[in-house]
Amino acid sequence: MSDKISTTPEAELARNICASFGNKASELLEILHELQHRHGFVPEAAIPAIAKAVNLSRAEVHGVVTFYHDYRREKPGRHIVKICRAEACQSMAAEETCSHAERKLKVKLGGTTSDGSVTLEGVFCLGNCALSPAVMIDDKLHGRVTPQRMDELLGGLARKAAE
Ligand code: FES
Repeated sequence: MSDKISTTPEAELARNICASFGNKASELLEILHELQHRHGFVPEAAIPAIAKAVNLSRAEVHGVVTFYHDYRREKPGRHIVKICRAEACQSMAAEETCSHAERKLKVKLGGTTSDGSVTLEGVFCLGNCALSPAVMIDDKLHGRVTPQRMDELLGGLARKAAE
């Protein structure tokens, strides 16, 4: 691979974020979180820039990005629907809600609908166990999400898109 410095906007953003964390390898998780927060995902083009800035190998940075499922590697949909699959929610039929959402959106967990409107993700505990099964849509938490409630929530997203 070439050592040429990448000038893509993603690499530039990654370098700026690394600098704001003091270019420290110990801050790698925070750097990746910040990059995902600002860019929506961790683009492949940012990895060499991060590796160089924090003095790690590309393989080391890549290994961290692929190990933690929290990091997205592709552009997400306009809305992100997270379904909790941890114990309390599982005991309240979260899997049923999950399968229903997959069928309705015609996408598997981790995927994005073909129109780019929704990314469906499975997560482990949204801190809303008392109101399981729990779902988060963008930044809003919803409790007791049955398949029927999921239809209402997804319908709300479709209506917003049509406005
Ligand atoms: S187990 Fe689902 S919100 Fe905690």
